[in-house]
Amino acid sequence: MQITTNYLNMEHDLGDIVRSFSQLSDSIVVNHTYLVDGNNLINIFTISEGFDGGFKIQVSGNTETVQKKYQYFSENISAYESDNVVKVRLQKREIKLTMYRALCEFTQSSHLWGSLMGIRPVKLFKSIFELEGKNGYEFFRDYSLVSKEKTDLVQSIYDLQKPFYPTGGKPLDLYIGIPFCQSRCYYCSFISADLRVTNQSLVEEYVDSLVLDIRNAKRMIIDHGYDLRTVYMGGGTPTALTAPQLSRVLKECEFDVNEFTVEAGRPDTIDKEKLDLISKVANRISVNPQTLKNETLQKIGRNHSADDFFRIYDMATKYNFDINCDLIAGLVDETADDFENSLGGIVALNPENITVHTLALKAGSKLRENTDRNINAEIGEMLNRSYSILGDSGYNPYYLYRQKYMAGNLENTGFCKTKPCVYNIDIMEENTSNIACGSYGISKHFYTENRKITRFAYPKDVRTYIDKLESNLSAREDLFK
Ligand SMILES: C[S@@+](CC[C@H](N)C(=O)[O-])C[C@H]1O[C@@H](n2cnc3c(N)ncnc32)[C@H](O)[C@@H]1O
Ligand code: SF4
Repeated sequence: MQITTNYLNMEHDLGDIVRSFSQLSDSIVVNHTYLVDGNNLINIFTISEGFDGGFKIQVSGNTETVQKKYQYFSENISAYESDNVVKVRLQKREIKLTMYRALCEFTQSSHLWGSLMGIRPVKLFKSIFELEGKNGYEFFRDYSLVSKEKTDLVQSIYDLQKPFYPTGGKPLDLYIGIPFCQSRCYYCSFISADLRVTNQSLVEEYVDSLVLDIRNAKRMIIDHGYDLRTVYMGGGTPTALTAPQLSRVLKECEFDVNEFTVEAGRPDTIDKEKLDLISKVANRISVNPQTLKNETLQKIGRNHSADDFFRIYDMATKYNFDINCDLIAGLVDETADDFENSLGGIVALNPENITVHTLALKAGSKLRENTDRNINAEIGEMLNRSYSILGDSGYNPYYLYRQKYMAGNLENTGFCKTKPCVYNIDIMEENTSNIACGSYGISKHFYTENRKITRFAYPKDVRTYIDKLESNLSAREDLFK
């Protein structure tokens, strides 16, 4: 892929749009020229695809040059915009939209999410409405060329979330990360160490550091006058720790909050002793099947069966937890009927939350290394069925996010019966500050007065996190001053 543009620092954004058209080959060449003509902006794209030097393709046995030119005139308010930041944002938006339109014409296809590539469509919808004073629905549908079904979806999520947005005070969420797993699932690119090849003394040292980290966070919450809304312990797999290790972490976690989630995750890491410990501080857990098809579970390297999941789920129902179950649509060799069977099996259990992820083939996962552009052809159908079956069973979508390299350019959606996970909403909508404990924890200071966000990230590597914790604790505190 080769992309050139005369607009500063735009190659990356244009590359993302080109990559989202998965039918294009790596020999695609795009040249973009941006001109200002008085009140108008002009975007010109020359697109070529093929082999043999990148400009020819085979059509019915003949080699033919495919090189097309697209030109768009936009009457754009940015020409009169005095705030340079706003001006650049509007110009970039227009360039991305016209790039998308050119590729739609070139490929004779379109995306359900139109020209939107960002990971937080609901946040965009909200900001168009609340910050730019425009109609979010029209912006999605008419300007960004988002399909009616996805625009309606975003509108309904925004309506559901609205009562949960913080109103005043200093809203904050706390994240606690456990970067270990019992083994690696082939599709996963989260940063997490495989415990089969990790020294237990490193895990013990991690727990020591995490305890200090949480204590420090607790003090900061009080000293800086934050209103703690939720706590989320994720990973990795927190329950991959031994019961004594988990107990040491949870002992630091007595918080007065309405929502405290522990991502218990893999059924093969959960037992009664750990659930007893978790139930003392948390009121929401995830128990994740990903799929209920045993053959697929084996293929994706999950060391558990569907029956293991059912047994652990049943054990978890003996406590007062709100339970979430994660499923992934588009897993290797699965059909829409396989996915529907998994969905049906989960719905029958009636958990409070179900999260439907779309398979993302990200760098760092074993599946990505072994697969080229492996997109499950039935992925769109799987998501359609999830919306209709879950809708008919009393579940409403309450949060949504998109990722790069997501099969079919679709989305991940969290559904709830009556209680959305407020942590998930806060993280996606970025309306709150976040103190993150543990390696690769990314703390965020959200300034309520101007809605700006500043960030501080701990090292990804567990050893470096432990070694640098002392100095990083004070660097993290500086973020909140
Ligand atoms: C951070 S993971 C932790 C969950 C827990 N360790 C487990 O495996 O059950 C959260 C969720 O992300 C989803 N996920 C991870 N990798 C993914 C991928 N490549 N594509 C789509 N979903 C993915 C899975 O559904 C997983 O349950
Ligand atoms: S999906 Fe969960 S258990 Fe599997 S490797 Fe990723 S974080 Fe670990």
